[in-house]
Amino acid sequence: MTDQAAPQPHDIDSANTSKAWSGRFSEPVSDLVKRYTASVYFDQRMAQQDIRGSLAHAKMLARQGIIAAADLADIERGMAQILGEIERGEFVWSLDDEDVHLNIEKRLTALVGDAGKRLHTGRSRNDQVATDIRLWLRDAIDQILILIGEFQRKLLDVAEAHAATPMPGFTHLQVAQPVTFGHHLMAYYEMSRRDAERFADCRKRVNRLPLGSAALAGTSYPIDREFVAAELGFDEVCYNSLDAVSDRDFAIEFCAAAALLMTHLSRLSEELILWMSPRVGFIDLADRFCTGSSIMPQKKNPDVPELVRGKTGRVNGSLIALLTLMKGQPLAYNKDNQEDKEPLFDTADTVIDTLRIYADMITGIKVKADAMRGALSQGYATATDLADYLVKQGLPFRDAHEAVALAVRAAEGRGCDLPQFSLEELRAAMAHVPGAAERVGPEVFEVLTVEGSLASRSHVGGTAPERVRAAVAAARKRLA
Ligand code: ARG
Repeated sequence: MTDQAAPQPHDIDSANTSKAWSGRFSEPVSDLVKRYTASVYFDQRMAQQDIRGSLAHAKMLARQGIIAAADLADIERGMAQILGEIERGEFVWSLDDEDVHLNIEKRLTALVGDAGKRLHTGRSRNDQVATDIRLWLRDAIDQILILIGEFQRKLLDVAEAHAATPMPGFTHLQVAQPVTFGHHLMAYYEMSRRDAERFADCRKRVNRLPLGSAALAGTSYPIDREFVAAELGFDEVCYNSLDAVSDRDFAIEFCAAAALLMTHLSRLSEELILWMSPRVGFIDLADRFCTGSSIMPQKKNPDVPELVRGKTGRVNGSLIALLTLMKGQPLAYNKDNQEDKEPLFDTADTVIDTLRIYADMITGIKVKADAMRGALSQGYATATDLADYLVKQGLPFRDAHEAVALAVRAAEGRGCDLPQFSLEELRAAMAHVPGAAERVGPEVFEVLTVEGSLASRSHVGGTAPERVRAAVAAARKRLA
């Protein structure tokens, strides 16, 4: 993200003498309470969004004659200075001012006086924070959508290069049928496509304006919410003030989309790890994504995919955290909601970092086509093709299934694969199923080849090389 790492509570300025922060209170909060309730050490990440929101609000107040044009000019001048201070790292964040909103407002008042004190007219921190999060999340989603596109482009390059590279397809982790490596990778493209759709869809519900809802009941000032929405690029306003300040369903939705995206990348990671194991040996990963062992000199470990698989756990955890945060809250705003930010920020950070590293890692996959083909010749991968062949010669499918099962058993006993049988041997192996042996002709050996099996699956969604190339081309067109 564009923002700096958040400082920890002890880094932040706090006056030793706690003070009550309004005339309503007769004693100051303790230092412990102050630290416990403060959010400035993590919500300062929303400083830019907070300033953007405040400027739009101030502009609306001036247009509506609620504050003077001179006040607006002061606010704009002060905010420009504050933005500069934050960007240069000069802004002094204070725990005494609890959160990003109060810190900025206080500094504004210090810089421009009464105009700063007028900024909060017709507004509450409740609608302010809901607006800031939505602005922040919208930026994060836009960044994630771009990164998904970059990941997809890299994936498509590798899938196209291996559109005709045969590998065993698995079910139950047992060799099932031949597929191409390109087809296998395109399965992950389809998952990522749905992931992108989910984020884009979530963005629609994120992109609505809470501001104007004030604390919970709206405000008596003649505000213009549509103007503020347009200023900030929101599609529309939130239509109920209680709902607008209190619900965080849009954040939960984002975390759910993120959890699914991470789950997909976690599955791919698991495969990369498995394929890289010397026992499988289908691929190698570029050295820069692996580490060695401090004790075993021979080791090259797939740390990056392992960490992606591991980080999926924290993203899933954040989703559960937010669901749990919300489930018992009565309307409207409760301080519980301050706890929405860290899981949300962490989720966005994790997804963004993971997509970046993945796009890079995909291009560093070295495919060992010989090992893939070798594994294919060990699992009777074309047995289904043989059964389909018998069916096409008129044998009912269940009989064909049984005939091929007998042939596989005979091959297993001989320690060979089906194509290594002679025509006579193949017929003999099926002899117990009436009508099977006489239906087998010499052309059966074309059916038993991997290339024949692949080419025959040329329907939409199939693994035939021409189909995989077409799927890649269609995906490229979609991305363009
Ligand atoms: N820091 C608070 C939050 O993150 C801002 C809103 C506080 N509002 C309140 N009434 N205490 O939710």
